[in-house]
Amino acid sequence: MRRILSLALIALFAISARATEVANEIIRIATDATDLILSTAPNGRLYQVYLGPKLLHPEDFAKLSPYSRAGSDGSAATRGWEAYMTAGMEDYFEPALQVTHADGNMSTLLKYVSSEKKSIDGNAEETVITLKDDYYPMEVKLHYISYAKENIIKTWSEISHTEKKPVLLHRYASGIIYFERPSYYLTEFSGDWAQEMQMSHQQLQFGKKMIDTKLGSRAAMHAYPFFELGFGEPAKEDAGEVVMGTIGWTGNYRFTFEIDNLKNLRVLAGINPFASTYELKPGEVFTTPEFIFTRSDNGKGEASRYFHDWARNYQLRDGKGDRLTLLNNWENTAFKFDEDILAGLMKEAKHLGVDMFLLDDGWFANKYPRNNDRAGLGDWEAMKAKLPHGVPGLVAKAKEAGVKFGIWIEPEMVNPKSELFEKHPDWAIHLPNRETYYYRNQLVLDLSNPEVQDYVFGVVDRIMTENPDIAYFKWDCNSPITNVYSPYLKEKQSQLYVDHVRGVYNVFQRVKEKYPNLPMMLCSGGGARCDYEALKYFTEFWCSDNTDPVERLFIQWGFSQFFPTKAMCAHVTSWNKRASIKFRTDVAMMCKLGFDIGLKELAPDELTYCQNAVANYKRLKPVILDGDFYRLVSPYETNHTAVMHVSKAKDKALVYAYDIYPRFAEKTFAVKLQGLDPNKQYKVEEINLMPGAKSRFAQNGQIFSGDYLMKVGLYAFTTQTLQSRILEVTAQ
Ligand code: DGJ
Repeated sequence: MRRILSLALIALFAISARATEVANEIIRIATDATDLILSTAPNGRLYQVYLGPKLLHPEDFAKLSPYSRAGSDGSAATRGWEAYMTAGMEDYFEPALQVTHADGNMSTLLKYVSSEKKSIDGNAEETVITLKDDYYPMEVKLHYISYAKENIIKTWSEISHTEKKPVLLHRYASGIIYFERPSYYLTEFSGDWAQEMQMSHQQLQFGKKMIDTKLGSRAAMHAYPFFELGFGEPAKEDAGEVVMGTIGWTGNYRFTFEIDNLKNLRVLAGINPFASTYELKPGEVFTTPEFIFTRSDNGKGEASRYFHDWARNYQLRDGKGDRLTLLNNWENTAFKFDEDILAGLMKEAKHLGVDMFLLDDGWFANKYPRNNDRAGLGDWEAMKAKLPHGVPGLVAKAKEAGVKFGIWIEPEMVNPKSELFEKHPDWAIHLPNRETYYYRNQLVLDLSNPEVQDYVFGVVDRIMTENPDIAYFKWDCNSPITNVYSPYLKEKQSQLYVDHVRGVYNVFQRVKEKYPNLPMMLCSGGGARCDYEALKYFTEFWCSDNTDPVERLFIQWGFSQFFPTKAMCAHVTSWNKRASIKFRTDVAMMCKLGFDIGLKELAPDELTYCQNAVANYKRLKPVILDGDFYRLVSPYETNHTAVMHVSKAKDKALVYAYDIYPRFAEKTFAVKLQGLDPNKQYKVEEINLMPGAKSRFAQNGQIFSGDYLMKVGLYAFTTQTLQSRILEVTAQ
């Protein structure tokens, strides 16, 4: 009898065990080319089980084990690649989330609750996954948007809780992805003022490599928020597996690349937790910035084009729209101008053929006039001594000249020599008890303060209300946050870096809502603001104050890794006069073209050349702004460089070839084009020639098949220093 009973008990136990055995839930985040697959495990937690080229057979997914990478000794370890790794449990490496709960406990363990998917306009899919701590009332929602055609995934998280008192967030990454390869190579982008986006690479070794910034505003002055990963070798242009990522955060960010004891790599992207412990109240939601990444098995060139298409289709403000050519006055006049001088420049802009005149720094403030960078920031009324008829007078002059009018502002900043600072010293970020350190003689306004947000929004709003015909803003931000202290946040200083950036976005958002058709350039003492969150509000950004065309070739090569050239402002200036006006213009032509030069300093043939170049640019804008961009020859690897744009229909292309400093009698080589239709015939013609000059390009005017151009190439380079050629390639 006892035997029968125990057999029955065993049978019952087996049945109930089977009943509670739940199959792992698979969550597939897919584009047309990539799969990111997450899976729950029997422990109820969520793991990354795959990130790579798209898998063909969904029935294979169940074979992807959440724990397979755990025990190198073959033990049944349960350490895996947790989708949002928390601190205080069994993982000893960098977590995505680190919290001190209201009771002082420092551990968090997230279990999977549910996931849902929704389509975004049929082009992208959003997956929202809810995770909950199994002990504390804390919830994390992971968001993923996958863009099918553009092969981009962006992810961010929302953290909230209903504990009795606030919790402290110490680390709060946007996302984390993992790789298991024999070796890992990182390409990073570093620099300084006038040296933006310099590329270098290194092999990652055990432990952590971080790319971060602590500058607050002007955040990307030294380290740019981008990375490229190569596996087995540094990421290559046209071959091999690469992963490229960036973060949309106009403040302190951090990428962590950590190789663990099992030689796996984890990549975390998020706000830099440096000096930023955040107190999260019950019921509040902490939303992290977007971590945006792509991958390719055909090198960085293809991955860049994924970014370019995605940006134009979804992220960049007016990504599909047109862009205005312009004449700016900063390099030409600096602070020395008046209404007559500007009226003259507007006529020059018209004569040049550009769409707009852009007035730069130095037009405002009366008590402390802005005649140099030591005074006036904050006092945004026109300086009477220079502009007796104010901004309306300039708008009228621009109308008379037949060009649009744009204007520079730097509304997040204040000079201590300003009426604004006299009135509201507590609006500036600075320490109450130490000597103040000034960067470019200015301080950053405290955008964590809603009153200051209103004021900064009001700067644009007042100018626009007075001058509804203003066609463009250049929004500058020259200082990092110095003397880190917010008079507004009082004892919550560790929230300043985050709340300040949120305040900046609040202002950007209000400006965009009220002036949805106003194009704006994002500028930050050159190119120190260049992230994809800010670019939701700006149509383009200023890449660098360094407009030496040689330097620009490197800077533009760097930025083009992540940005479509229509977002990259490039101006022709007097930097490096050893380079001809043709060379300088040909370099700017590949981006969003502008001029910042006194036309009077040009010889007549140079001016005619510029006018023709502007006309060519306008004619070819559909290819330059909206075509596919190919980097053909790297300036990092040769004494030359070449890039090209190809229209989506493959019926028109532009090849830009530059000889930088070739060696004497150097062997030149053919430049192989890309992106053409191999079966189409194309005529190749040199454009942007100096007036009266005949093309010395031996293959000028000839017709080739796309196949020939891509496999054999064109002899577009010369052995002459600082020569350039732009070739228009037209399908016959
Ligand atoms: C820095 C910008 O990068 C320049 O283009 C110019 O606008 C100056 N600021 C003006 O102060």
